[in-house]
Amino acid sequence: MRDRVTPLLSEAQIRARVQELGAQIAKDYAGKDLVVVGLLNGVFPFFADLVRAMDLELEVGFMQVASYGGGMESTGEVHILKDLDKSIQGRHALVVEDIVDTGLTLFKVRNLLTDREPASLKICTLLDKPSRRKIEVPVDYVGFPIEDHFVVGYGLDLDGKLRNLPYVGIYHP
Ligand code: IMP
Ligand code: MG
Repeated sequence: MRDRVTPLLSEAQIRARVQELGAQIAKDYAGKDLVVVGLLNGVFPFFADLVRAMDLELEVGFMQVASYGGGMESTGEVHILKDLDKSIQGRHALVVEDIVDTGLTLFKVRNLLTDREPASLKICTLLDKPSRRKIEVPVDYVGFPIEDHFVVGYGLDLDGKLRNLPYVGIYHP
């Protein structure tokens, strides 16, 4: 599988951008009661690096939703596999995602969390594929906009594999 991956974003490029994002977010949320909500599983390396780049008092929480039946195409169905175990009511919530593709996952997650009446709800994603959007969803912080490639590594998977690659690469089927 690894021999079908060509590098797109190096470890150094990712590290530098994550530091910038963390600094920006820390500035924007200074003095606020912030809960950073990670969407499992793909977000785990980005999330760990991002929150450590935020010089801020905050809490973390996780949700897991499934939008892909497996393989490289979205099914359009989004299931909640694991819900957040803390209240965001009256608090500032920042949802962190690995990649926004069709937007269906975040659209659903956004509606679900908005119903819980947070003081604010923003979205941060490492990668964004704007050309693939099927539904409009506001994304407040973007690490890297990318072309329409299927990418793996730094948390992103193909059928559960390749998440542990330390960089982001394009998968060539
Ligand atoms: P969306 O609902 O179509 O926006 O898809 C979001 C989810 O699809 C992400 O959280 C990823 O799990 C997955 N996904 C979308 N594009 C890619 C990709 O290029 N590589 C790996 N996973 C992807
Ligand atoms: Mg995935």
